Amino acid sequence: MKATDLIKKQHKSVKALFKKVDKTEFVRQRRQLMDQIAHELKIHTKIEEEIFYPAVREVGTSKASEMVDEAYEEHHVVDLVLGELPQVDPEDARFAAKMTVLSELVEHHADEEEDEMFPMCEKKLGRDRLQALGERMQQMAEGMGAQRRAA
Ligand SMILES: [Fe+2]
Ligand SMILES: [Fe+2]
Repeated sequence: MKATDLIKKQHKSVKALFKKVDKTEFVRQRRQLMDQIAHELKIHTKIEEEIFYPAVREVGTSKASEMVDEAYEEHHVVDLVLGELPQVDPEDARFAAKMTVLSELVEHHADEEEDEMFPMCEKKLGRDRLQALGERMQQMAEGMGAQRRAA
C-alpha cells in the first residue's frame, strides 16, 4: 500500500475511535478506547517520524521542510496531552475536555497532512517511492503491535 494510503487509513481509524469515546458513557470503556487511541497514535506518529517525514524532507524545498518541522511539533503536542491522560479520571469533566482538545489537534494535523503534504508527495516522490515507503511503514507498524489490516 502507498505510504499516503496507509496513513489515511490510520487517520480514519483514529478519528472513528474518537467518535466512539464521545458516544460511550461507560467509564471503563472510555478508558479502554482511550488506551487504544494512544496505542494507535504512538505507532502512527512513530512510522511517520522514522520513515515518512525524512522522505518528505528529501523533497528538498523550503516548503517541504517547513511542513515537516511543523508536523514534528504537532506530534510533540499530541504526545504531551497523551501523557497527561492516564492521570485524569475518565469520570472527571477534564477527561472529556482533554479528549476534545486531543481529537481537535489530531484532526487538524491529519487534515494538513492529507490536504497539503500528500499532494506534494504524490507529485515529487512518485508512486513507486510511496509504495516502497508504505511497505516499510507497514512492517514497522506490525512490529510495534499494529493489527494487519486488509489492503
Ligand atoms: Fe503526523
Ligand atoms: Fe498522520
